[in-house]
Amino acid sequence: MIDVEICMGSSCYSRGNSKSLEFIETFIKDRNLEDRIRLNGKLCLGSCSDGPNIIINKNLHSGTSPECIIDLIKHYLTAEEAR
Ligand code: FES
Repeated sequence: MIDVEICMGSSCYSRGNSKSLEFIETFIKDRNLEDRIRLNGKLCLGSCSDGPNIIINKNLHSGTSPECIIDLIKHYLTAEEAR
C-alpha cells in the first residue's frame, strides 16, 4: 500500500496542490488503484516556502507539480511491484 499525504494547507493548496489532488484522484480512479494507494490530506506541514509539498511513504517531496506527482506515484508503484 502506498501512502500519499498531500498538504492541504493554504499555501500548498493555492500553489498547486488543489490541482494535484484532482490529478491524483483521477489517476487512482481511472486505474482502479483504490486498494494500492491510500490518499489523505494533511494540514500545513510547516515548510510552506518549499511547497507545494507532498509526502509519499513518509518521504517528503517539495516543489511538486501535478505532473511530477503522478510520475512519483508511478515510480513508487513500480518499486512496490518489484518487491
Ligand atoms: S501549506 Fe503546505 S507546508 Fe504549509
